[in-house]
Amino acid sequence: MTIKVLFVCLGNICRSPTAHGVFEQTVAKHQLSGHILVDSAGTGGWHIGETPDSRATSRALTRGYDLSQLRARQVCLQDFNEFDYILAMDHNNLAELQAIAPADYHGELTLFLNYSAGRETDEVPDPYYGNGDGFEYVLQLVERASKDLLQNIIERHRLLC
Ligand code: 4NP
Repeated sequence: MTIKVLFVCLGNICRSPTAHGVFEQTVAKHQLSGHILVDSAGTGGWHIGETPDSRATSRALTRGYDLSQLRARQVCLQDFNEFDYILAMDHNNLAELQAIAPADYHGELTLFLNYSAGRETDEVPDPYYGNGDGFEYVLQLVERASKDLLQNIIERHRLLC
C-alpha cells in the first residue's frame, strides 16, 4: 500500500513545494520512498507549470533540498480520490479545500502544522510578498513538521524502516 501525501498552499511556488521537497527527502532518508508518495498543489492557478519561486529554491538548496524539478499545479477534485493526507499551509488554504472537498472524503484534511509537535504557530506564513526572510522561517517550520509528520505516519500505518 502506498500512502499519498499532498501539500497545498495558494500558489504552489513557495510553501507547498518547499514542504514537498523537504518531506520527500525526509521520507527517502528513512528508506520509505516505496511506501509514501509526495506531491504538492496550489488552490490558485496563476503559476501552473512554473518552477518554484527562485527564493524558495535557493534557500532550500542551502540545506540540501533540490526543488528544481517541481512544477506548479492547481488542486483538483481527483486529488480527494488520490490522497490520504491533504495538508494545508494556512487557514485560508484549508477553508478553500474544505469548500470543494467531497462530503465523503475519507482522508486527513487539516493544517500541516497540526502534525508539528512543539509548534509555536499552526500556519506556515506566506513569504511571497515579504523581504525574503520569510523563506528561512518557512524552511524551519517545514523541516520540524516533516519529521513529526513522518513519525506519525510510520506509527499510524506501522511502517518498518
Ligand atoms: P505560496 O506563495 O502560496 O506559498 O506559493 C504565493 C505565491 C504566489 C502568490 C501568492 C502566494 N501570488 O499571489 O501569485
